[in-house]
Order: sequence, then structure tokens, then C-alpha cells
Amino acid sequence: MRWNHAYVEHEGALARTGFGQMASALPRMMAVVLRAGWAADRRALVGLVVAQVGQGITGATGLVAVNGVLTHLFADGPTPDKLRQSLPALIVLAVVSVGTALLAAWSTAMSGRLEPQIERAVSTQYYRAVTRVEVAATEQPEIQRHLEAGKFGTDSARRMLGLSVGITGVLISMVASAAVLASLHWALLPMLLAIAVPRGWGAVRTARREYLSRRHWVDHRRAVATLLQYLTMPHAAGEIRAHEAGTLLLRGYEEMSRLVETEQRRLARAQAHTELVAGAFSGLASLGCYGMLWWLLTSGGLPLAVGGTAVVAIRNSTAGLTSLVRQVNRMYEEMLQFSDTEEATRLAAEHAIPRTGAPLPSPVRAVRVEKVSFTYPGATEPALTDVSLRVRPGEVTALVGMNGSGKSTLAKILAGLVLPTEGAVWWEGADGERVELRDADRAQVFRSVGLLAQDFPQWQMTAAANVAVGAGDRARDMAEVRSAARAADVDSLVEGLAHGWDSIVFKGYERGVQLSGGQWQKLATARSRYRDAPFLLVDEPTSALDPHAEIEAFERLRQLADDGTAVVLITHRLAATTTADHIYVLDAGRVAEDGTHDQLMARPGGLYQHMFQRQAAQYGHPPTPPHDLPTARRAGAPHPDAAG
Ligand SMILES: Nc1ncnc2c1ncn2[C@@H]1O[C@H](COP(=O)(O)OP(=O)(O)O)[C@@H](O)[C@H]1O
Ligand SMILES: [Mg+2]
Repeated sequence: MRWNHAYVEHEGALARTGFGQMASALPRMMAVVLRAGWAADRRALVGLVVAQVGQGITGATGLVAVNGVLTHLFADGPTPDKLRQSLPALIVLAVVSVGTALLAAWSTAMSGRLEPQIERAVSTQYYRAVTRVEVAATEQPEIQRHLEAGKFGTDSARRMLGLSVGITGVLISMVASAAVLASLHWALLPMLLAIAVPRGWGAVRTARREYLSRRHWVDHRRAVATLLQYLTMPHAAGEIRAHEAGTLLLRGYEEMSRLVETEQRRLARAQAHTELVAGAFSGLASLGCYGMLWWLLTSGGLPLAVGGTAVVAIRNSTAGLTSLVRQVNRMYEEMLQFSDTEEATRLAAEHAIPRTGAPLPSPVRAVRVEKVSFTYPGATEPALTDVSLRVRPGEVTALVGMNGSGKSTLAKILAGLVLPTEGAVWWEGADGERVELRDADRAQVFRSVGLLAQDFPQWQMTAAANVAVGAGDRARDMAEVRSAARAADVDSLVEGLAHGWDSIVFKGYERGVQLSGGQWQKLATARSRYRDAPFLLVDEPTSALDPHAEIEAFERLRQLADDGTAVVLITHRLAATTTADHIYVLDAGRVAEDGTHDQLMARPGGLYQHMFQRQAAQYGHPPTPPHDLPTARRAGAPHPDAAG
């Protein structure tokens, strides 16, 4: 079984694309290369084009000179005279070959200068586009796969430039040879074509087969690579040994690579077959070509000198042909890959987070979620159904509920990362003016939100970078990094490391250290604090913290809210929700109940009361009547209008 069969659907369409279409795309691709080159380094591009055209001219001139030399040599008369007469043509030949060498060197220098610049331009464009795609779109496997496939073509433009140079070089010299040949005798041109066509056919077939195979197997290869990655990953080292996971992974690797090998064998056989057929036809054509030349010479249809020039030209152009074939082969593949990148960039733009939108009210009085439902792409069940809630500055809003009840999804909606399938998210100003998330300037929404996701990324970078990445739009300010770290109680830990803030928080690097789960959580908390946004969403921020650290973390969040931040706290530690201003209890994607701790504890048979009492019982506390519990520091917020 192959890893993923999703590419099968593209295969038919691609296989039907004829060579004509591909060839007609070649100028377009060259135009792309030219455009990219023009944008990257105008002077280098002009130099390159001049060098290429120059080489074509020198090639043709050289051939004409060869003809001149041969004509004089094959003429009647004493040899010294013939040599003297052919001298000017010989000098032209020498000058031309020096010129060709100079132009070739110039062309190499210019393309060497251009190539990296083009790669950077294409990569930047692609990666910038991809990082602006709506999160919901990246959740759709068919979109994600297209975006992912684009990665393989980011250096294609660079290679396409090199190949364009090679191809135009050969093409120009072939056209020059063809022109000279045709001017010598009309029959020589069709002969040249007869040799070239079968080879071209073989190259196209081979290229297309390889490309289709690669596309077909891309997911499989990715899975194989991932398997291997796991084997050396420090994170997995424990399970790999203790659970013998390594044996399983290796077995999987071997099975999967055997499949790849089978595919490669199939490809190699098919390629060998194609090459044989193309070679045979091309060889026959060459034979015919030389036979015809022989006949023309013996029948007197062609002077001997012209025959000599023809042999040189045919040899020149068939030698060039081999490299042309190889290069067209690769160019063709690169072209297909590059169109994947273009397609990914286009698709990314289509699904991009809008760059414009209504400015948010300032200051924001509340964010209101109204009757929001959300279904993940491809999911059968909604993750959220008819959810309404309100988040206000100066308050801690707690979201509690069982695993899978929709808390993290709700956090993503509040953060503006995903748009609701139904319902609305309103950002409300002091005078009641409001902007819906879909119409809002999303960049401004993102700037207003700090997010500590449940599965926050552990960047393999320095400790300082791991905090400063919390505000990628600002220049790093170490004083602020330190104060964010202080607020997350991770400052002394980092400063105690041998390389302090410059330590790489990933083992295996020089200056690398290994942090514990809890330490990572604190570092990520520092990251969200560094963001310094008026809304802070923290998704199970203390799940790995020790009891002391956890209590302190909750107290700090409370303090932050008291200082005016809107804190949304997702947690299973209900001791922390006792001081929340408002608690929403989610159950299977719906708000089952909401209110202050006291209000919820007073609900007979309520879900919250039940969860709280079970947790309290774990610590040996008998179920406590509600009036003995600590009350919210602020008066319980009035019931949000939409909730219930
Ligand atoms: N990226 C996703 N794609 C598809 N389904 C998801 C995704 N993330 C979560 N879900 C599903 O949505 C539901 C709610 O998940 P989540 O919001 O993570 O719950 P919680 O944070 O309360 O544990 C679950 O059934 C989960 O399987
Ligand atoms: Mg969650």
C-alpha cells in the first residue's frame, strides 16, 4: 500500500497534457525567468542575454569560416597557395573561438550572480504567501498538499535560469548551424531534424514519467523521511528505546522504502526502454543522414567543401543535441515543479487573510461571540455549536469543559485565527460601535491578541528568540524580554544557564540545553506576555507546572486582568476558576452553563458543580457548600445577554 493516494486524481489530467502544450509553456517560463531576473538584477540579466546571443553569432560565424577554409582547401591549385588563401578565414575562426570562450565565461559569471537572487525572490514570495493563508484553509488536506508541493519548486526558478541559459545557448547555435546548413543545401535541414526529433521525444517522455512518479509518491516519501527523523529525535529517544518504538519505525521504513525501490525499478526499466527506442530511431536517422550526404557528394549534387562543412555542422549540432535533450528534460521537470510553486502561491493568495478591513474600535469594551458554530473542514461533527460568550478587559473569563469539548477551538475563534462557520464575533467599542471579525482588519485583531496555545511551538532557537518571537512585528527589546520572563517566573532559570539568553533551548546544538515540560510552558508564557496585547488567551497554561508555580501563574493572570487586560483562561484546574469573573462550561461544543463560580456551584446537578466536587474530593475535601468558597475578586459579572 502506498502512503497516500490523493495524487492519483491529478495524474490523468497531467498525463493528458501534450508536449505541444508543454513546449508552448516554455516561452512563458522563460518569460518568468526573465521577469524574475529583471526584478532581481537587471544588469546581470542584460549581460547574460548579450553573452548568449553573442555566442550564437560567434557559432554561426565560425561555421561560415569553416566553410571558407574548406572551400579554399578543396579548391584546385598548389597547397601553399590554398593555405594562404584560407588564412583570413582561419584568423576569423581563431578570433571567433576566443570570442566564444570570453562570452561563455561572461555568461557563467552573470548567471552565477543572478541565480541565488532569483531563488531568494521566488522563495520569499512563496513563503510569504503561504504564511498568510487562513488557518482554516491549511486545515483542508487538498489545499495543504498543494501549498506543501510548492516548496519543492522554490529553487526551480534558479535552476530554470541556468537551464534557460544552456538551452538558449544550444538552440541558438543549432539554429545558426541549421541556417548555415540550409544555405548550403536544402536537404541538409530535414536530415538534422530527423536526428533531433526522436531524441526530443524520448526526453519528454522520460521527464514526464519521472515527474508524475514523484508527484504520485510525494506523501509516501515525506512519510518515510519523517519516520527516519523520529529515530534520531532527542524527544523520541525515550520511547524509541523503552517501548521499542524504534523497531516498529524501522520496520515501517524498510517496508516503505522497498515500495519506493520497486517504483524506481519500474521507472528505470521504462526509461531504458524509451532511451532504446529514441536512440534507435535517432541512430537510423543519422545513418540515413550520412548516407544521403554520401550520395549527394558522389552524385556531384554537393561540392566536397560543403560536404565537409555539413559534417562539422551535423556533428556540432548533434553533440549539442545531447546536452539540449538533457537540459530540456530537466527544464521540463523544473517547469512543472515551478508551476506547482506558482500554483501554491496563487492558491495561498486566494485563501489569504484579507489585508484590509474595518479598524477595530478603540478602546475595545468587549469581544462578543454570538451563536457561533464551527466545523473543521472535513469533520462530520461541529466542534462548536451555537456558542455565545463575552470577553471583557479587566476580567478573567474562564473556559472549562472536558477534553474535546471545544475550548481550544473557541480560543482560535477569539484570536481571529479561524472564522466561525456560522454566527458572529463582534469587537465592540466603548460607545457600542462594533466590527464583525470577518470585516475587521485582521492584522489589527492579531495585534490585539496574545496567545499561549495548548500546543505552542518549541522553536529550536535561543531562549531570547523564543520569547521575542511573541512579537515578530517588533524589533527585539531585551529589557522587555527580561521583564516578560520575570512575569512568567522563568528569568532566573534562563539567566542561570551557561549561555544565558543566548542558550539554544534545544539539545543537540552547540550552546544547546534541554528544558523540562514545565520550563517550556513558562518560556511560552513569557512569549505571550512579551506580546503585550490587550487580550490574552491562555490555553491550559499550567498543565505542566508544579503546584507552587501553578498557583503563582494563576495569581499573575488575575493581576494582569486587574490591571486591565482581558484574560481568557482555559484550564482544568477549577481551583483557579473560583476567582474568575465569569466561567463558561463547554460540553460537546455547546455552552452548557455559565456564570460566576458561586452561581455555578449553586446550580443543583450542574456540570461545573459536579466537576468541582470531584476535584475537591481528590484532595480529601468533602463537598463544600457554595457559600464557604472564595468568591470572585470582582462582583460576578452580569449574565451576558447572548449566553444561556
Ligand atoms: N485541527 C482540527 N481538525 C479537525 N478536528 C479538530 C481539530 N482540532 C480539534 N478538532 C476536534 O474538535 C473538537 C474540539 O477540540 P478542541 O477544541 O481541541 O477541544 P478541547 O480544547 O476542549 O479539548 C474535538 O472533537 C477535536 O477532535
Ligand atoms: Mg484544548
